[in-house]
Amino acid sequence: MKFTDKTKTRLIVNLEDVAHNYNYGKKLAKGAKVAAVLKADGYGNGAVAIAHRLEKEGCDFFAVSNIDEALELRDAGVKGIILILGYVFDEYLESAVENDISLSVDTSAHLKKIIEKACGRPVKIHIKADTGMNRTGYYAKGGDLSDDLILSANLIKENANVICEGIFTHLATADVEGGEDFSRLQYERLVNTTNKLRALGINPQIVHLSNSAGLAKFSSFGLDAVRMGVSLYYGYCTDDANFRHTTSFKTKVVNVHEMKKGEGLSYGQKFVAPEDMTIAVIGAGFADGLCRSLSYGKGSVLINGEKFPIIGLICMDMAMIDTLGKKINVGDDVTIFGTDHGKTITVEEIAKDAGRTPYEIICGISKRVPRIYK
Ligand SMILES: Cc1ncc(COP(=O)(O)O)c(C=O)c1O
Repeated sequence: MKFTDKTKTRLIVNLEDVAHNYNYGKKLAKGAKVAAVLKADGYGNGAVAIAHRLEKEGCDFFAVSNIDEALELRDAGVKGIILILGYVFDEYLESAVENDISLSVDTSAHLKKIIEKACGRPVKIHIKADTGMNRTGYYAKGGDLSDDLILSANLIKENANVICEGIFTHLATADVEGGEDFSRLQYERLVNTTNKLRALGINPQIVHLSNSAGLAKFSSFGLDAVRMGVSLYYGYCTDDANFRHTTSFKTKVVNVHEMKKGEGLSYGQKFVAPEDMTIAVIGAGFADGLCRSLSYGKGSVLINGEKFPIIGLICMDMAMIDTLGKKINVGDDVTIFGTDHGKTITVEEIAKDAGRTPYEIICGISKRVPRIYK
């Protein structure tokens, strides 16, 4: 299916800007490899399109959440490392092995299943260390290696087809002010764990830690790779203006009408017109990813380079704005985030207005919204 500029509601992704951000990330990483984290369909931007564009920049390391996301990239011809950061259940391990997908391993029980399903075929693993996030990973919060990690190290040694491609952990406080000491502690724990594994004869090829916020604050920590997710699309957690906003969320005006003073608007009728006013209806609603918490004046949109408040309750496919006495016509372009006539609403601004994180906003643009690439 081919989408055109006539499409009403659309997410426009500037792939040149994504490539720019990736290359800027590489510069910040100072020689470390940059893995593109393309979970959740590349944070809503379209994982395959992003991967293909980044491959042209030399990217050969991608990370995703699950087997479906991994196979989508492999089936689309992506050649480099595709690492699944999440857990893969037994029934999918075989297709991971067949498609040369790298697996995160966090228990010896999981590793045993991987070995069983690999049946002697080469299988690449990354050891996931829990250095403090307390989510998943081998216990790696100081002291000796955990018994389970030692058991896993022995399994790796006994099974020559198991390739220890990497070891990693995830920063819990890189995007929190004052979280630097904890990030450094997590780094030390990862390095200690890696050194102890090396002493046992296990040599993970790629040690990786930083996410976007870690990259902005600590570069790669001097390790082999960083994992860059959200900052492929804008400079998360940094005011470094070298990062570009890559993505715009746009729709069109679908109706313009008058409302008399005292009339209620939309579901619940909580917004009551304080005076006679002209309302414009826009063609995107919460089912497209326009957060309902932007209702009742919390959020604004841009039309013809000017800001207009969203009033009343956002509906599933539409939302209403106050035209503020300006001339607005059906078919006028509406920018929910992005730039219009030199004015910009950033994803951070809309996230703040909605009481959400920028991640939730960009991952929340729904499937029915076509992605258009520039
Ligand atoms: C394990 C892991 N690494 C890296 C990332 C990328 O993080 P960011 O988008 O903040 O760069 C994520 C994202 O949640 C993750 O779960």
